[in-house]
Amino acid sequence: MATQPAEYLWWQRGVIYQIYPRSFQDSNNDGVGDLRGIRARLDHLVELGVDALWISPIFPSPMADFGYDVADYCDIHPLFGDLADFDALVSDAHRRGLKVILDFVPNHTSDQHPWFRESRSSRSNARRDWYIWRDPAPDGGPPTNWLSYFGGPAWCYDETTGQYYLHLFLKEQPDLNWRNPHVQAAMLDTMRFWLDRGVDGFRVDVMWLMIKDAHFRDNPPNPAWRPGMMPHMQLLETYSADQPEVHDIVAMMRQVLDEYDERMMVGEIYLPYDRLMHYYGVRAPEAHLPFNFTLILLPWEAHTIAQAIEAYEAALPSGAWPNWVLGNHDQPRIASRVGDAQARVAAMLLLTLRGTPTIYYGDEIGIRNVPIPPDRVQDPFEKRVPGEGHGRDPQRTPMQWDAGEYAGFSTVEPWLPLAGDYRQLNVAAQRNAPHSMLSLYRRLLALRRSEPAFSVGSYRSMMVMGDAGPASSVLAYLREADGRRFLVVLNLASRPARFSLGASGEGTVALSTYLDHGGATVRGELELRADEGVIVALA
Ligand code: GLC
Repeated sequence: MATQPAEYLWWQRGVIYQIYPRSFQDSNNDGVGDLRGIRARLDHLVELGVDALWISPIFPSPMADFGYDVADYCDIHPLFGDLADFDALVSDAHRRGLKVILDFVPNHTSDQHPWFRESRSSRSNARRDWYIWRDPAPDGGPPTNWLSYFGGPAWCYDETTGQYYLHLFLKEQPDLNWRNPHVQAAMLDTMRFWLDRGVDGFRVDVMWLMIKDAHFRDNPPNPAWRPGMMPHMQLLETYSADQPEVHDIVAMMRQVLDEYDERMMVGEIYLPYDRLMHYYGVRAPEAHLPFNFTLILLPWEAHTIAQAIEAYEAALPSGAWPNWVLGNHDQPRIASRVGDAQARVAAMLLLTLRGTPTIYYGDEIGIRNVPIPPDRVQDPFEKRVPGEGHGRDPQRTPMQWDAGEYAGFSTVEPWLPLAGDYRQLNVAAQRNAPHSMLSLYRRLLALRRSEPAFSVGSYRSMMVMGDAGPASSVLAYLREADGRRFLVVLNLASRPARFSLGASGEGTVALSTYLDHGGATVRGELELRADEGVIVALA
């Protein structure tokens, strides 16, 4: 594979950083983050060494699902600022060489969106068919057995017109009817609105859910469902997700992006690899990056993850660019899932795999899930299905900037509680601490930037040559470009381990997650400490 820098685009070489805007930086002291706050913190992203920021939704919204219920696709919620603030943010970001990715939420609008208000007003309204309306079943119940992701049926009965409308999420989030060409045209225009303002790309919300079965057939039961799993998983999503026609819609979105230079689209898709890969496009180009959530979903075991990386690499269609994610606003924080020590190993894994990494804000300092007292719960999922661990507030808490009151996030009590240990665990405390998580992230990102082997080089599993059977805690692979070779060896357990360099010969330690031993010679066998990851520059 050729590795000449000019052949790769920014979203291939670069690293994406996700900002949950309510929790990044408050500039007007209302306890909620905003656009001016993000602007004021851009230098953090530059110092960290990322290339693009993805901002979760900032559009006008009743906030039933914290912005994923959009009431106007072409404006900014006053809580976050206005269009002038947005333009200033984009130009400040661009001046620093940072790209800006917006969250596009096409599957559903808010029930307060003017389109839905019209649609629900009468059966004959011109926008009736912009949403998915169906007659009741013969017994008066919902038209199909489909379930909402947030619990309960996915249909809501509307007294005014005597029909049900579909909502795969909250009833305040009615699903748009993407089979309607007017919906397609209107939504594609909202993409152009932001592209014309200089946005570099979109993260597309629930891309695989955008089209539903034309015949509205019932979903079959899921024999693998167990209590504790998400409630909608009681049924297989045979007829409510990943329908063949969704690919025409994604291809249309891609065509809009291709009207502009070097814009990109990353799609939120929770599907197995064989289905996921179709979203790169089969008949026509689709998403540049269908999100790969492997590292979020799999148990933290070397053998399991090694096999998954192999399977993912093998499943990628020709020319498709890989990507990796450790966390997002819907998933438990990596530091809580695998522990503080392994979170450092996870960072090394994320930033040395082949493909575009996405970092979730706060993971660069090791923020953990923050316990939320019942009276502070905000997430509608937790409110609807309490106590089952589905709530997403714990991973959405304010960024911990410094040891001051409210962690430098705000001057008033934030909308979600701060971590109890923020006075120790914050950006200011870690910035100049040579062994901190932040220092590790900066070193990894700097190495990735300076060595094309990591961003665009080839990937080869080294599991066979070491002692890495299913019982081993070691994950090892080789990254190579332009004749420079790096061996990445990760110990996924909290006991020491060994790895035989075998035919790879010898090298020097380019980086350890302990941030010591740099430059040490490695020959024959590499001794790994508990929870240690090492990058060896091979001779
Ligand atoms: C996506 C978002 C999630 C949201 C849901 C409905 O999964 O990431 O936060 O609740 O879609 O829009």
